[in-house]
Amino acid sequence: MPKITRRGAIFTSAALLGTAATGCQNESLSTPVTFMHGVASGDPTQNSIILWTRISPQDPNFSGSITGYWEVSTSKDFDKIVKKGKFTTSPTRDYTVKIDAKDLKSGQTYYYRFKAGETFSPTGRTKVLPNGSLEKVRLAVVSCSNYPFGFFNIYDHIAKQDHFDAVIHLGDYFYEYGRDGYGGKVGAKLGREHEPAHEVITLSDYRIRHAQYKGDPSTQAMHTAHPLIAVWDDHETANDSWSTGAENHNADEGSWDDRRTAAMQAYYEWMPVRDPQPGQAREALFRNYEFGDLLSLTSIETRLTARTRPIDYAHYISDLQTREGIGNFVQNILGDPTHEMMGEAQRDYVGKALKSSKDKKQPWRLIANQVIMARTASPDLTAYKDEEFIKEIEKLFPQIYDYIALSPIGLPLNPDAWDGYPAARERFYKMATDQGVQDLLVLTGDTHDNWANKLESASGTTMGVELGVSGVTSPGTGAYFGSAGKDFSERLNAKNPDILYHDNQYHSYIDLSLTHEGGHAAFIGLDTIYSPEYKTSTIKEFKLVKHEDTIKLEEA
Ligand SMILES: [Fe+2]
Repeated sequence: MPKITRRGAIFTSAALLGTAATGCQNESLSTPVTFMHGVASGDPTQNSIILWTRISPQDPNFSGSITGYWEVSTSKDFDKIVKKGKFTTSPTRDYTVKIDAKDLKSGQTYYYRFKAGETFSPTGRTKVLPNGSLEKVRLAVVSCSNYPFGFFNIYDHIAKQDHFDAVIHLGDYFYEYGRDGYGGKVGAKLGREHEPAHEVITLSDYRIRHAQYKGDPSTQAMHTAHPLIAVWDDHETANDSWSTGAENHNADEGSWDDRRTAAMQAYYEWMPVRDPQPGQAREALFRNYEFGDLLSLTSIETRLTARTRPIDYAHYISDLQTREGIGNFVQNILGDPTHEMMGEAQRDYVGKALKSSKDKKQPWRLIANQVIMARTASPDLTAYKDEEFIKEIEKLFPQIYDYIALSPIGLPLNPDAWDGYPAARERFYKMATDQGVQDLLVLTGDTHDNWANKLESASGTTMGVELGVSGVTSPGTGAYFGSAGKDFSERLNAKNPDILYHDNQYHSYIDLSLTHEGGHAAFIGLDTIYSPEYKTSTIKEFKLVKHEDTIKLEEA
């Protein structure tokens, strides 16, 4: 049996030799296979978890089915198998394998692996959600991993920390662009160019792109070491997507329905997430995760279920030239009550989860969310209008000069975020207050910057706090604004009383610990993403203080 030396693989050849007879059986295959995309686990419950791998037939012309085995053990050397089974996969699911391993023990760490023919997969480690009395939960929070923009050193660092109960990925697990798009130039320099070379549109394209991201050694290491709790944001389909379209979807790319169906099929094939229940829509990737008596984490879906088209300021330039026009825009266009983010059915689901958490007297109620929820008005950017870096931004965002001209008005910085859907945000907050919840801990990705924000309703009701995490590699505002990056951050802070902390200088993840006594959030930053050799440092820390049904952030 060959020794597997792939980075992130936990087990040794001795372990394999010792267990081949007790666990997986031999099933002869008509083509040799490998497990070149590693293993992954995720979407845990208190007694089950999804186990994932992908089989790669060595014969490129092979198109038959492949049958193999999986097994779960409480020990790294698989001396005691607690669950095992058989799987069959085929080209209809791109040779991916997804097992819902059930009847597991709550809070238990498990090891799992697959076997096809004579070949074992790497061994993954995973953990089922805990039940009952629980002292502490520790989570790694990430978002926005763009392959061409740099090395996934954040994943590598997380893989090396044994103490995490789960990794929460807040979306943009991959990006849809071709080599001529976002990140392409950096990717060419780093030898990390997107596959396929063109923007992904068809099912085959999305599958190839997923395969590329799962082939990354740091991605594999992270998945091998920890279970994943994932939500998608826009780029798993296309930039700034909503239920019936996307900014980065054009008429000559076919129907949006076909594209998002393809994107979702590939996502469910390639990610360790549970398939939708019978009768449930594929879009409905929202969940509730219970961590004993300590916390509930509710993940929400704000892209494909119900989101209406985001406002494009470019359409309203002439309307925004007078005080009356601005008032009308804020009241009737931005404030349009029909603008939606998640829809009533999902809001009801989240409301029930919050009520259940409150009834159980769990101290923490987390929301895994995509786009910034806090009020974040644009600062005055007119001082930048003649700067060189604005010309670079214009190449990606042609409306930048209109945006700068409007910036003194103080409209939402990003109309694709919750701030561009204020009526939907108020409905979300009302859903929470109806359950007596005003201590939300909202975790947010999407912006590629780091944030700590207060959450308040339009009437000034305290709703909780928000921690926003920068990109694993995607560039934040610091990269775009160059030498003015810190100045932009200061202007943003000064303009917005709800922003307690904003950083646009680091790629980082959040190391979040929660106990019955309090919480701690550390932003762990990298010194580089342009080399696989890197160093980390704690760039900011907050204490999370619970007091009489409220939650506060204090600098640690
Ligand atoms: Fe992103």
